[in-house]
Amino acid sequence: MIEKKKGITVFAPATVANIACGFDVFGMAIDHIGDEVTIIPNKKNILQIKSIIGDHKKLTKDVQENIVAISIQALLDALKSNQGFDIYLKKKMPLSSGLGSSAASSVAGLFAANEFFGKPFSRAELVPFAMEGERIACGTAHADNVAPSLMGGIVLCRNVSPVEVIALPVPSLLYAVVIHPHYELKTSDSRKALPKKISIKTASYQWANTAGFVHALHTNNMDLLGRCVTDHVAEPFRSKLIPLFDEVKLAALHSGALACSISGSGPSIFALTKGAANAKKIAEAMKSVYKKSEMGADVYISKINSKGAKKIK
Ligand code: HSE
Repeated sequence: MIEKKKGITVFAPATVANIACGFDVFGMAIDHIGDEVTIIPNKKNILQIKSIIGDHKKLTKDVQENIVAISIQALLDALKSNQGFDIYLKKKMPLSSGLGSSAASSVAGLFAANEFFGKPFSRAELVPFAMEGERIACGTAHADNVAPSLMGGIVLCRNVSPVEVIALPVPSLLYAVVIHPHYELKTSDSRKALPKKISIKTASYQWANTAGFVHALHTNNMDLLGRCVTDHVAEPFRSKLIPLFDEVKLAALHSGALACSISGSGPSIFALTKGAANAKKIAEAMKSVYKKSEMGADVYISKINSKGAKKIK
C-alpha cells in the first residue's frame, strides 16, 4: 500500500568514475558534495519538475528530457505504476565537472521513489534505471557514476547489459583529494576526444593495471594500488582538454600522492593517498597550481563515502 501524501528527500553523493585504470568500469563515491531530490506524490498521475535550485538555470524542467524524471519514469514503468510525483531538485555540486553531477541527480530521485514504494528494488537493482538518465545526459548509458552513487564505496561495473555491479573492499586509510577547476567540460565532448581504437599493447597494459587495482584493494596494498591507478587509454587524449592538468598532476605526485588522474570525463582531477595529513598536503599543492593562474578551483578532501545515497527526510 502507498503511504500517505508526504515528501521524501534523498541525498546522493558525487563520484569519481574510471579511477584512471578502469574506463567505464570503476567508480567511487566521495563525501561533501552531491545532489538532493525531494519527491511529493501528486494525484495527477504525472511527473512534474516543480523547482531546480543551484543549476544556474541550465537544466530543463521538461520531464521528457530531465534526467531525474526520466530515471523515475523508468522505475514507474518497471512497477507498472502511474503514480505521479512533484519533483524538487537541489544541485549541491557543479555541473559538467567530472564528478557525476547528472548521476547524483538521477540517483537521488530514483532512490526517493524506490523508498516511496517500500524499497521493491535493492541499490544494485536500481542501477539500470539510473543509467537511463545517463544515456540522455551523456549519450551513453555507463554505470560507473550511478553505481557508486547508489551503493557507496568503490564499485566494479563488470557488465552493463545485463547490469552486473560488484562492491570492492575499500582500504580504511584511503583518501581522495578532488580538485574542480572552474571550467565546464561536457561528458559527451570529452568522450568525443577518445580514440576509436587502441593498440593491443595499450589494452594489455591497461588490463594488467585494472586487475592489479582489484588485487590491491583486496590485499590493502597501497603501493600496488598507486602503481595501478594509471590510465593509458583516456588520459593522454582528455588531459589536453583540462587546463593545467600536467602541472596539477605533477604537484600531486611531488607531494606524495599514490596516484593522480582525471575524475570521470573531467575537468576535475583526483589524487589518492593514505591518511588525512597527506591528503591535506596534496590538496594544498594541487590548489596552488590554479592559484597561480586566473582559474578558480574548489578542492575536496574525502574518505571514500561508504554509504552512497541516503534518505535525509
Ligand atoms: N566513464 C565515463 C567517462 C564517466 O569517462 O566518459 C563520465 O563521468
